[in-house]
Amino acid sequence: MTILITGATGKIAQHLIPSLLQQDQAVRAMVHSPEKRAMLERQGAKTVVASFDDPGALDAAYDGVETLLFLTPPHENASTWASAGIAAAKQAGIRRIVRISALLAGPDGPSDNNRQHGRTDDELRACGIPSVILRPHFFMQNLLADVPTLNAKDTLHAAAGDAGLAMIDTRDIADVALCALLSPAWDGNTYDLTGPASISFHEIVRELSELLGRTIRYVPISPDSLAQSVRDMGLDEWFAEGFHDYLLAYSRGWGDFTTDAVEAISGKPARRFGQFAKEVLVPKLSETAQAA
Ligand SMILES: NC(=O)c1ccc[n+]([C@@H]2O[C@H](COP(=O)([O-])OP(=O)(O)OC[C@H]3O[C@@H](n4cnc5c(N)ncnc54)[C@H](OP(=O)(O)O)[C@@H]3O)[C@@H](O)[C@H]2O)c1
Repeated sequence: MTILITGATGKIAQHLIPSLLQQDQAVRAMVHSPEKRAMLERQGAKTVVASFDDPGALDAAYDGVETLLFLTPPHENASTWASAGIAAAKQAGIRRIVRISALLAGPDGPSDNNRQHGRTDDELRACGIPSVILRPHFFMQNLLADVPTLNAKDTLHAAAGDAGLAMIDTRDIADVALCALLSPAWDGNTYDLTGPASISFHEIVRELSELLGRTIRYVPISPDSLAQSVRDMGLDEWFAEGFHDYLLAYSRGWGDFTTDAVEAISGKPARRFGQFAKEVLVPKLSETAQAA
């Protein structure tokens, strides 16, 4: 059974692909940027280069595939690309799809990214191919983008105000996706995937300060300032607006809830923020500080 992984170089697939290979599954990794093929091939995955905006290449990538991990990148054309991905899946006779969507995706979602995921999820439910839709919360791994400021200034800037967010470790998303790819038990359902607790950025810096043995300060910023820093990083207006709209919603408590879906599907409790900090964030902080 060939399993095609889209988004194969991303934050979820980097944990999912090794787990599938460990279980001797036939993995085909769909790579968008060809220079990243070698890394996946060294792990033992077969690779294919394709883009969601190139239907011919998609058809070739999907040929002979039975199960699809369907992840589309955050992009202003994401739902159009996803429609092409669903059409190619039908054309190729793909039997099952595991979709990576986003928390509470739907027409009332707070950002264009969220609403696009909602449209794609509806299209997938109607397409006739058995599927399960996984809608993850804010990734803990997003905080890796803050490593430079954390190291340089001992500060964490965020536009979430005092609100709690039940952010999730991408390793848990990968664990859930692994189970969903290997068993049809959850087909026909939509699951919101969260971490085990809803935590504020005040609690995040408290945990980080304890682990690092030095004080890390939370600097709340406005969603407008966040959007400006996204523009300053060279990302386009769609991303700037998206970050603004999501963080405005989070700061108002939109993400302040947990679900038990990770444990119900993977059989393992979702990782706590402290575990992510100890195993992923703090080692990255040390490695980056040493390299500087
Ligand atoms: N970040 C969050 O907090 C969060 C929360 C909930 C849901 N999500 C959703 O999760 C998904 C992102 O997952 P991720 O973080 O694992 O991925 P990611 O790290 O954002 O990587 C994006 C992936 O998409 C591929 N890609 C880019 N353009 C493409 C194209 N034109 N055709 C085909 N593939 C293309 C990239 O391939 P190359 O590297 O080869 O270019 C890469 O593998 C998005 O749908 C996002 O909305 C994110």
